[in-house]
Amino acid sequence: MARILITSALPYINGIKHLGNLVGSMLPADVYARFERARGNEVLFICATDEHGTPAELAARAAGQTVEAYCAEQHEIQKRAGEAFGLSFDHFGRSSGPQNEKLTQHFAAVLEDRGLIEERVTTQIFSIDDQRFLPDRYVEGECPHCGYEKARGDQCDNCGRLLDPMELINPYSAISGSHKVEPRETRHLYLLQSKLQDRIADWVASKTEWPALTKSIANKWIKEGLQDRSITRDLYWGVPVERDGVPRPGFEQKVFYVWFDAPIEYIGATQEWAEAAPDQNRDWRSWWRLDEGAHDVRYVQFMGKDNVAFHTVSFPCTILGSEEPWKTVDTLKSLNWLTWYGGKFSTSQNRGIFMDQALELLPADYWRWQLMANAPESDDASFTLEHFAAVVNKDLADVLGNFVNRITRFCAARFGEAIPCEGNYGAAEEKLVVDLDAKIKSYTDNLAAMEFRKAFAELRAIWVAGNEYLQVAAPWTKIKEDKPAAAASVRAGLNLIVLFAALSAPVIPFTAEKMFRVFGLDPKEAGRWPTSARPALEFLNPGHAFTPPDVLFKKIEDEQVEEWRERFGAE
Ligand code: 2FM
Ligand code: ZN
Repeated sequence: MARILITSALPYINGIKHLGNLVGSMLPADVYARFERARGNEVLFICATDEHGTPAELAARAAGQTVEAYCAEQHEIQKRAGEAFGLSFDHFGRSSGPQNEKLTQHFAAVLEDRGLIEERVTTQIFSIDDQRFLPDRYVEGECPHCGYEKARGDQCDNCGRLLDPMELINPYSAISGSHKVEPRETRHLYLLQSKLQDRIADWVASKTEWPALTKSIANKWIKEGLQDRSITRDLYWGVPVERDGVPRPGFEQKVFYVWFDAPIEYIGATQEWAEAAPDQNRDWRSWWRLDEGAHDVRYVQFMGKDNVAFHTVSFPCTILGSEEPWKTVDTLKSLNWLTWYGGKFSTSQNRGIFMDQALELLPADYWRWQLMANAPESDDASFTLEHFAAVVNKDLADVLGNFVNRITRFCAARFGEAIPCEGNYGAAEEKLVVDLDAKIKSYTDNLAAMEFRKAFAELRAIWVAGNEYLQVAAPWTKIKEDKPAAAASVRAGLNLIVLFAALSAPVIPFTAEKMFRVFGLDPKEAGRWPTSARPALEFLNPGHAFTPPDVLFKKIEDEQVEEWRERFGAE
């Protein structure tokens, strides 16, 4: 049994996530976690809300709440949405917790002791009316590249360019709108990443199993050369710049930059997980400290492509620069963008479907299947309601749903609600086993390699093979001339439901559970990862009772698509 640590990029606290965010990290991480658990591995699946920084402060202000209250509320909302989507986190933590604060301060102290952090004087925009420095998004103004008038200090939403607040033309405070702003000198802590250039380059080069997208992004950053970066901000909401409980002189009004503390929360959340159950002897250090048992852990991270630089360069600078024996990532699955009809998802412009809205329309598995079967792996992918409906209707309703429905109803009507005993398997079943075994192997290999599109094309082919078998075996006609032969193929068909449930559980866990329940099976027992269809066809004893389920998947009608297009701004 292997020990596998899985983390998903931490969703920002400022608002519920859309389908693109979901398929960008949390959902593929969940599918992989479920797959590895079913294979019998010990999995620890960690996520959290990323709560610090200007986005949280600004969103709280817009909501008329204190940032503490806002974050507490939004964390609960995201936690519930994740549960409703079947995201099987072992712990969903909060980066604003005390564990992360201590760890962040610890890393900063160690890095400073290693000569990798220094104070530097920089010039920053100060708002006279607000009596404070304006970091990142707190300053807005005209974009020097495209002329857009509401560009944020860190990035222009119009042309997408990354900005330094000092570059903005006619800057003003996003807090008060005041134009009474001026450049002033201030001190910040800088992480001297340039000193770690060779160390990080060697480390990345040693990661031969990283997928191509991850590797190419990491190499691009290394080639450009690692830059020293400021890791503090003039904000209220964040990890205080303290060492052993003592504020750093001159930094009393500053906190660590959100991108410095966020990835440390992977460790912090693991500590939260351990402390949440003091009676269970959970040892977070055995997952993270190489000197305390983590040498046998395989660590897999999931994230959207915009996060790759932070995870292949910045966070490793923190970890490796500390020279302490922390576990680093073994493989890192990154995904491209899911777009909404080729454009951006946007709350303010009412474009796209967000997690809570999706579940008002249809159960989680409909979304989980479509998103994962079409995951933006090799390129960006466009989500359209038309494609969603076509995929659901074909794969889930016509192929899988119909298979389960047809065979259970036929058996109930002609043989009763128990596995038929008569007849023996023959050449048709042998052919089925050989065919399925090749497909199961390919499916398993692709899931293990986190090649989700390929994996789910194979799973669909497995479901199709079941339908084709029934088509050829045709128990509905055979029953007239050879009842035992019909009984044997019905028995095979019913056993296939259990096999399909086990194979499908990582991606459509709620439906898989229903399929197990048809036979009164415990998903934990029956859901172990199958390696061959041969024993699977003998899994249910003749005479084992079952209850035909209700229709597993309802088809999506054209009128529904039309209504949703209207509601979610499809164009
Ligand atoms: O891009 C984002 O949504 C960030 N909140 C991801 C952070 S990942 C980790 F480092 F915390
Ligand atoms: Zn611009």
